[in-house]
Amino acid sequence: MLPAGMITYFDGKFVDDAEATVSVRSRALNYGLGCFGGIRGYVADDGKQVLVFRLDEHIQRLCESAKVLYLRPPGTPAELAELHLELLRRNDVHFDVYMRPLLLHNSTAMAPILDEATTSFTIFCLPLKRYIDKDAIDVCISSWRRVADNAIPARTKPTGAYLNSALARREAFDGGFDEAILLTEAGKVSEGSAEHVFMVRRGTLISPPSTQDNLDGITRRSLIEMAGDLGVPFVEREIGRTELYVTDELFLCGTGAQITPVKSVDRRTVGDGGIGPVTRKFQQYFDDVVHGRVAKRKSWVVPVWG
Ligand SMILES: Cc1ncc(COP(=O)(O)O)c(C=O)c1O
Repeated sequence: MLPAGMITYFDGKFVDDAEATVSVRSRALNYGLGCFGGIRGYVADDGKQVLVFRLDEHIQRLCESAKVLYLRPPGTPAELAELHLELLRRNDVHFDVYMRPLLLHNSTAMAPILDEATTSFTIFCLPLKRYIDKDAIDVCISSWRRVADNAIPARTKPTGAYLNSALARREAFDGGFDEAILLTEAGKVSEGSAEHVFMVRRGTLISPPSTQDNLDGITRRSLIEMAGDLGVPFVEREIGRTELYVTDELFLCGTGAQITPVKSVDRRTVGDGGIGPVTRKFQQYFDDVVHGRVAKRKSWVVPVWG
């Protein structure tokens, strides 16, 4: 449950969360015109400090998305980063937290028009432990195809594209699965409804490139660098659907999902159905990195306090 009295940033002010609202006439609501981010902060080992994971990269992606979608961020990347940290301070955050910056085409006029001058910017936050509340999940291949980059650019995290994710997720839940993996129109693995896909075959970590109609993912990019730290070979290439049925290990990753092992795909058991050794290694290392325990990756976390 959301703690009472949360503060939200909305168009130049920190306001009571209940005051951060848009009109029912907003183009952002009527046509799904906008883009957003999702950023996590983790309580450090001292129990007080909060470390924001890859804040600059998230801001950079938001700004790049804004460029594609004719939105105007209200400041430089450094100013935007500071607004995020200030939001956490104003909410006295000493818990695992999720921040959601949103850029919206917030005109109340008719017609789906992209006009930089009508951009609204908000950031809200909430406590978040787990986004997927299971140690390992059963997934299906969705009958819905991932929205193509030439239709709605998924790489930008556009609000409207989440109808695609929601349809896939609903279908998965109705079928008794925990999550869906979507294929591109060409039938190759794209991504989960809100996660990237990594498989491990014969000791090599494999993930599809970000040209497969998926989000320009920050956890994904981080894991690719972590593979280097851990000495795990990594290959970026197309993945066919049935490779997922025969892979040794499979996991989904994302800011929300972190590293979530997959135990079956379309009811085919992955490996022996347990959490594989490479997946475990990444989970442990990821946990160490986000909590600021890895000297080499300290620059990936930004302290909120002090
Ligand atoms: C569609 C989609 N794919 C992948 C991800 C993971 O991306 P990131 O690691 O940048 O959070 C997300 C967001 O969390 C997403 O919404």
